[in-house]
Amino acid sequence: MSLRAIVLAAGQGTRMQSDIPKVLHEVAGRPLVTWAVDVVSAMNPDEIVVVVGHGAEAVRQALPEEVTIVTQPEQLGTGHAVMVALEAMGDVSGDSVLVVPGDSPLLLPGSLSALLDEHGEGVSATLLTAVVPDPTGYGRVIRYGDRVVGIVEEKDADEEQRRITEVAVSTYVFDGGALAEALREIESDNKQNEYYLTDVIGALAAPGTVRAVAAAGPSEVLGVNSHDQLAAAAAQMRRRINGRWMQAGVWMQDPERTYIDAGVTLEAGVQIYADTQISGDTTVAAGARLGPHAFVVDSSIGTDARVWYAVLRGAEVGEGAQVGPFASLRPGTVMAAGSKVGTFVETKEARIGPRSKVPHLSYMGDVTIGEDTNVGAGSITCNYDGLEKHDTLIGDRVFLGSDTMLVAPVEIGDDAYTGAGSTITKDVTPGSLAVERSQQKEMRGYAAKQKKRKPREDG
Ligand code: UD1
Ligand code: CA
Repeated sequence: MSLRAIVLAAGQGTRMQSDIPKVLHEVAGRPLVTWAVDVVSAMNPDEIVVVVGHGAEAVRQALPEEVTIVTQPEQLGTGHAVMVALEAMGDVSGDSVLVVPGDSPLLLPGSLSALLDEHGEGVSATLLTAVVPDPTGYGRVIRYGDRVVGIVEEKDADEEQRRITEVAVSTYVFDGGALAEALREIESDNKQNEYYLTDVIGALAAPGTVRAVAAAGPSEVLGVNSHDQLAAAAAQMRRRINGRWMQAGVWMQDPERTYIDAGVTLEAGVQIYADTQISGDTTVAAGARLGPHAFVVDSSIGTDARVWYAVLRGAEVGEGAQVGPFASLRPGTVMAAGSKVGTFVETKEARIGPRSKVPHLSYMGDVTIGEDTNVGAGSITCNYDGLEKHDTLIGDRVFLGSDTMLVAPVEIGDDAYTGAGSTITKDVTPGSLAVERSQQKEMRGYAAKQKKRKPREDG
């Protein structure tokens, strides 16, 4: 006997009113369908079949290689989706078949384990249920005494049935043979003209071989059919992720205003201020302080670094380095230990050496800066000549005067200085001062002369 799993991900998600297939909408930076595949993978099934249909090609690309992808060309209902999967799976009699929806990202492995544990010898189906405060939209679980006798979809339910708060959540384990047989019995004579997987439960319930397991809580089974449900699921996931990081020793000023995607790694002792968003493949080391207002993607933040009011994409921030306020670090920015990128500074492909500082109003692109160098306020690498990008090299212990324009390609030697307001087009030899600007002239008594002038009559 083996365990086979089916993820239902072919639906259009009409209620999202979106061009993106529903299961590709993201929660904590990962598509809904990825969460479903992950929770199923945790059960170590022998095979995972994902049923795709609407936006099949895009969904296929989001899926890991190890799953089998089956196409349901027309979305004729959840029951039909399982029929299509079974056709591709061949003979499943004697196997257990786990089915999960592709739109319920909060489902936890514990619930699936409980489902599989309950599903023993002689049981044809075990379904996951939940009692929810607002059952609108869900299939209601119909019981006769303790026994589950069927599921009625909201649209097909009468008023009394709609008051039932125990709902079905599209998560089941079936005996493979019983499932295949029951699927041959179901019809599409309902309000939506669909083949409902829920009807399989009714078909199997008669002999009393259906069991039910309650999920840990209503928030775990939240299905995403609309944007408000997507936001609710994301908020719930945020609580879960942030709760886990706080348990692991991360300080958060306000976890409700802290957004950490699933792929992020934080060390104990990280401090996060409000309105901080960390996503992609980002790591943050102990003692680093992020926020308020840090937006960090695919970056690494070193020990004791400080990043506030800043946007970082593909950047490396070294130990004790400082970023912000109001800085934009673009891909290829590598800040060594103790360096600084300050207020209104943009960097790109910029290697900034140990303890070097770019404190105010600068653009540093395609540049390598040595150690202990200071870039004066308003200095800019003119790296683009309209056709190509060129590199700038700035040595160790350099002092760039304010408003230095570095017209690349250009090299500033170690220990060199530039005068404020200079446009540097030639390499500067180590240890010298380069000044490029006209002599200052003075017109003595200018103010007095001005004051003697008569204003024009017509004002
Ligand atoms: C379904 C259940 C409902 C349950 C709810 C829980 C049925 C008939 N209803 O309703 O009892 O309370 O989930 O979340 O099963 N899909 C396909 N092919 C199709 C139709 C759907 O693959 O032809 C996929 C969807 O992509 C989705 C999942 O199946 O991931 C559920 O479909 P959805 O349309 O969201 O069903 P609900 O109306 O939410
Ligand atoms: Ca749904």
